[in-house]
Amino acid sequence: MDFVKFFKNRRSSQETLLNSINRDKIPQHVAIIMDGNGRWAQKRGLPRYAGHKAGVEALKDIVKACIELNIKILSVFAFSTENWKRPKEEVSILMDLLTKYLASEKDDLHKNGVKINCIGSLDKLPESAQNEIAKAYVLTKDNQKLILNIALNYGGRLEIIEAAKKLAVNICEGRMKIDEITEEIFSSFLFTNGQPDPDLLIRPSGEMRLSNFYLWQTAYTELYVSSVLWPDFRKNNLLEAIIDYQNRDRRFGGIKK
Ligand code: IPE
Ligand code: IPE
Ligand code: MG
Repeated sequence: MDFVKFFKNRRSSQETLLNSINRDKIPQHVAIIMDGNGRWAQKRGLPRYAGHKAGVEALKDIVKACIELNIKILSVFAFSTENWKRPKEEVSILMDLLTKYLASEKDDLHKNGVKINCIGSLDKLPESAQNEIAKAYVLTKDNQKLILNIALNYGGRLEIIEAAKKLAVNICEGRMKIDEITEEIFSSFLFTNGQPDPDLLIRPSGEMRLSNFYLWQTAYTELYVSSVLWPDFRKNNLLEAIIDYQNRDRRFGGIKK
């Protein structure tokens, strides 16, 4: 293959995509279900972990692209409360990859103004992962260029139940009245407390379901399903998703302006 030609073509297609983007309508919050690693590996006759490893490279590229595009929040679904059903070895490889990603990338992410915010039932994760999560958080907590929410042992239903429990405690202990519970108050008890809901949710690998991700937060999120498997997902695919999003008519229950 002529590599020079390949990279030239890729550059020119990226230029075309960048020219089609409306800089005034960049989604503030993009969420991604990082799916398709296993199928990517299977297609190449490789073990599943090779797909997970390649998925980390896609994550690095997409974080960089989000910074360049001035996206303010990127949420990535990395491990669901249901993913514990997988073989022990696969779970431990996933935990290991995540721990290594945080350890090796946190300094660079910090330099680029990224706040690393892991969300989910983090206390159930292996101790080594919890330590890296805490270190990355402490190092980057004041950064404002991009918030990177990494959903780990995250489940949308679990998150809602946890919020309901915390509200119940507040009511039982007299700090709050039932009538004071509004959508805004309820949202503030979720892991995404204080953040705007995602404008755009991308699911690579062609699957058309939420798989228990951001059940509350996606009430009015624009959904985009890509057939590209996550390890192959790059800036150009993100640009395509954003262009599609920019052509949507977001009515929020109202009528077309
Ligand atoms: C996503 O890829 C990674 C996690 C769920 C942790 P998968 O491992 O689900 O890949 P497929 O869906 O089997 O291709
Ligand atoms: C969703 O992918 C979870 C993550 C990407 C972390 P799954 O592969 O677990 O989802 P299902 O099982 O296809 O719904
Ligand atoms: Mg999957």
